[in-house]
Amino acid sequence: MMTSKEIRKSFLDFFQSKGHKIVPSAPMVVKDDPTLMFTNAGMNQFKNIILGNDPIVYSRVADSQKCLRVSGKHNDLEEVGHDTYHHTMFEMLGNWSFGDYFKAEAIGWAWEYLTEVLKLDKDRLYVTVFEGAEAEGLSRDDEAASIWEKYIAKDRIINGNKHDNFWEMGDTGPCGPCSEIHIDLRCDEERAKVNGRDLVNKDNPQVIEIWNNVFMQYNRMADGHLEPLPKKVIDTGMGFERLCVAVQGKHSNYDTDVFQPLLKAVGSICGCEYGKDAKTDVAMRVVADHIRTIAFAITDGQLPSNAKAGYVIRRILRRAVRYGYTFLGRKEAFMYKLIPALIANMGEAYPELIAQQELITKVIKEEEDSFLRTLETGIRLLDKVMADAKKAGKTEISGVDAFTLYDTFGFPLDLTQLILKENALGVDIEGFNAEMQKQKDRARNAAAVETGDWVVLAEGETEFVGYDVTSAETSILRYRKVSQKGKDQYQVVLSVTPFYAEMGGQVGDTGVLESANEKIEVIDTKKENNLPVHIIKKLPENPASKFTAKVDTERRAAIEANHSATHLLQEALRNLLGTHVEQRGSFVSPQVLRFDFSHFEKLTPEQIRTVERAVAVVLTLKLQAA
Ligand code: ALA
Repeated sequence: MMTSKEIRKSFLDFFQSKGHKIVPSAPMVVKDDPTLMFTNAGMNQFKNIILGNDPIVYSRVADSQKCLRVSGKHNDLEEVGHDTYHHTMFEMLGNWSFGDYFKAEAIGWAWEYLTEVLKLDKDRLYVTVFEGAEAEGLSRDDEAASIWEKYIAKDRIINGNKHDNFWEMGDTGPCGPCSEIHIDLRCDEERAKVNGRDLVNKDNPQVIEIWNNVFMQYNRMADGHLEPLPKKVIDTGMGFERLCVAVQGKHSNYDTDVFQPLLKAVGSICGCEYGKDAKTDVAMRVVADHIRTIAFAITDGQLPSNAKAGYVIRRILRRAVRYGYTFLGRKEAFMYKLIPALIANMGEAYPELIAQQELITKVIKEEEDSFLRTLETGIRLLDKVMADAKKAGKTEISGVDAFTLYDTFGFPLDLTQLILKENALGVDIEGFNAEMQKQKDRARNAAAVETGDWVVLAEGETEFVGYDVTSAETSILRYRKVSQKGKDQYQVVLSVTPFYAEMGGQVGDTGVLESANEKIEVIDTKKENNLPVHIIKKLPENPASKFTAKVDTERRAAIEANHSATHLLQEALRNLLGTHVEQRGSFVSPQVLRFDFSHFEKLTPEQIRTVERAVAVVLTLKLQAA
């Protein structure tokens, strides 16, 4: 039987033999795309190549990408562990062609790899093709269907609708029809009863999609219409854990050697065994799934924290600790002890884990310790809520209280219910769900951005002159409207600009665009697809006139000073704590600077003073020299 390591390697070897450049996985944590916190598909790192904004360096590429999906219809965090096939982190095997081969080769190689290299049973495979969408003027993908007919019986080629067979990166961006390969893993007896064909895309855990081949040829514009991409692209993604299930003839992702070593380690640390008790199994799956996500996120520079991506990681870690606490009897930190087993299993494919072993271990232990303290505070709060409810003669606690426990103290509803049950109380589930929905709506409204299409006044690229001057004659190349939370702004691309765009945590320049009769305030400058984009609140009356773009120079000087200070701070931290201190992120504005770095423990007040003094000394020397 092929091991998971051999399967991963065989995929990369296969595509290397077909002329593909094997590239490393991009980090799972996304730092420079405001629309994405985590990598959720293999194609993310190639987005700018696909859109034609970046040059094609290799026209054939393959990799194994670490992905994280923690929200969305099929990826609700609360489900993970309860079933045996959803995960937070997963690996996506993918091959790409940027303007090189298209459907015939992609389909032929997918078939060759699955049936000749992995020797999957052809009798268990089904494929889907896009049935077309009249409203969009898209016809059925007859081309893909006729290529498939060379390999597979016609009645195993199934038409799929836009939802399943037209892959889109998001509301706008690259997209195209796709063709999925599904496998029927049921036993022969069941296969004889119901034709696998009828179970494709029907949420049957044993009849599953393993590989999606996307034939990207359109760019979805903001008004919904499709424009052709500059070059046709193949974008494929195969779920590695599911593929291992198929190749190893298992019935659950957790039965493969991707997860078994981790489950064994959980068992030996917690004194239990997988497969003996349903509740314990759920908790063991939660822990085995989550330790991967947490370790990889930390490795990629995302420490648990209270905001955004850091909060997602904190919630995942807390969820695992809670399950360990309640169902595996772990009252003390234990997750960090799983790192050696994880590294033994995945360190070869992802050596960054080995390089950061010490850091990952210390961060997880510290986070576990601090959450276990919160957990105890939450339990005290729940005790009080229960006592109040009983005093008032109630049989349940309110949804609002249960939600506070969930949101602030990280108690999942099932933990709260468990404790309530022991005290002969219930919870107002509807009230809880209503609070949860309110929170989701708040998050969605805060994030919803409507972006208009570009209005092009003149073709061309921006010439950046900000190194030499802070004011320049210019004109508007294109502009578009962006609305968020009912507020309209405009983004403007200029022919010449002295404005620095926001980059690596340093805020962008502000200033004005002046014409003969107008002065328009530039409130920010950001980068999009490598172009500086200026944000203005109102459009000039005549966008086609000539402008002088002037940077607010006082503000720029203050930003530059704070930028230099981050370098001094980094130097001082490295001298004191060691060379593992690297910049993980930073924020530089005219008023303040923030410098993020990973260190395995909190700095003592004395260490902070030492660093401050070191920076101050260098600053004084520099000022004296100036
Ligand atoms: N980008 C495609 C997917 O994520 C392959 O399914």
